[in-house]
Amino acid sequence: MPPRTFSLRNCRIGVIGLGYVGLPLAVEFARQGFDVTGFDVDDSKTSQINAGRSYIPDVPQTELSEVVKAGRLRGTTRMAELAEMDVIDICVPTPLRKTKDPDLSFVVRAVEAVVATLKRGQLVILESTTYPGTTDEVVQPMLESRGLKADVDFFLAFSPERVDPGNQTYTTRNIPKIVGGGGPASTEAAALLYESIVAKVIQVSSTRVAEMVKLLENTFRAVNIGLVNELALMCHKMDINVWEVIDAAKTKPFGFMPFYPGPGLGGHCIPIDPSYLSWKARQYGFECRFIELAGTVNSAMPDYVVERVAEALNTVRKSINGSRVHLVGVAYKKDVNDMRESPALDILALLSKRGAQLSYSDPFVPELQHGSQTLASVDVAAALAAAPDCAVICTDHTAFDYDALVNSDTLLVDTRNALRNRQSPRIFRL
Ligand SMILES: NC(=O)c1ccc[n+]([C@@H]2O[C@H](COP(=O)([O-])OP(=O)(O)OC[C@H]3O[C@@H](n4cnc5c(N)ncnc54)[C@H](O)[C@@H]3O)[C@@H](O)[C@H]2O)c1
Repeated sequence: MPPRTFSLRNCRIGVIGLGYVGLPLAVEFARQGFDVTGFDVDDSKTSQINAGRSYIPDVPQTELSEVVKAGRLRGTTRMAELAEMDVIDICVPTPLRKTKDPDLSFVVRAVEAVVATLKRGQLVILESTTYPGTTDEVVQPMLESRGLKADVDFFLAFSPERVDPGNQTYTTRNIPKIVGGGGPASTEAAALLYESIVAKVIQVSSTRVAEMVKLLENTFRAVNIGLVNELALMCHKMDINVWEVIDAAKTKPFGFMPFYPGPGLGGHCIPIDPSYLSWKARQYGFECRFIELAGTVNSAMPDYVVERVAEALNTVRKSINGSRVHLVGVAYKKDVNDMRESPALDILALLSKRGAQLSYSDPFVPELQHGSQTLASVDVAAALAAAPDCAVICTDHTAFDYDALVNSDTLLVDTRNALRNRQSPRIFRL
């Protein structure tokens, strides 16, 4: 199959892994007229798709149901159907092991399924975030194990997913796509494909460059968040409002980009991806000092938040032990339902260890597992009616009634500057 065929709407697309990344991508291909099959090991996801129900907040219900009704998207757990695909896009998780080493087991399992059905002319694209070398050192040898050759018999590329869950301005459609192939034919094939669904495609010279681009982007964020978290700690000591400093600094029209302090890193990307890079760099005898330092600062933020809770309670002669502390927002960031690596979980565990009685509000997270206990979200009004000793704003969801919080008698520890422009001696900002 010559590469040009991949830009034709009659080419069949298989997306493996229908989560925060895979589902929006599958829907976008389907919206643009492609015949799309979503593959997942989780049959609750594939059945929800087939019933036209979206479980990812960034995928509007109507967009999903329209493409399912039109017969352009369906979900399946039958990996053997990969044989019928012209393009296979892999969007499975790339977590860390407990030792902080990359866990490529999901990628390997997905690639095994592709190997089992690989056909001449197929285009295989890895989208999962991973260390430079994954595509050519791990994926390519697996795919070539049955005799077909990459860039000759089939096409192989890496194209990092750059989606930002919850971002209404930048979505799959208008975020430029980076593409690096295992050879020129593969780069061209993948670029042609994405040009049919995204506004801009940038070709780079190899899969390794494409892999590194994504890690640079996320490491840049982790390091800058580390810097600004350290600045927040410093400003607190110096009695300077760090939020006011950042707001003023960002008026500079060049050479500065605002990052904000917070209760710690969360999500499947920023806390994890830099460790993929430092792990790989160590194999070359290289130590990533910025990554390590940012990791140390960022991972200490939940402890710092708990110290601020202790400080707040101290002003009314109370201790954490025995106090009722209410967490406002537990998802890892604003207006999403994603709890992966959420710093609120660490804050909850640390407060619990120090004897606090805990409750939480989060419209996106109805239930939360805390040790052997299942906590249920209560709305902010009900929580305030129970007069907790302290409320900690961990996630600044738009839907929260911040006025109600400020007008209550509860001590407020605000880790997100959600109460900007509101003054009260009961507000303790990060
Ligand atoms: N979430 C984000 O904001 C984001 C942004 C950019 C890139 N990424 C990267 O994209 C990748 C996927 O992340 P995500 O957030 O979509 O993960 P996710 O957990 O939301 O979704 C992954 C899906 O893959 C499925 N899966 C796992 N193994 C499978 C297999 N062998 N075959 C078929 N399906 C399988 C899971 O059941 C799940 O539905 C990761 O590498 C991540 O780093 C994520």
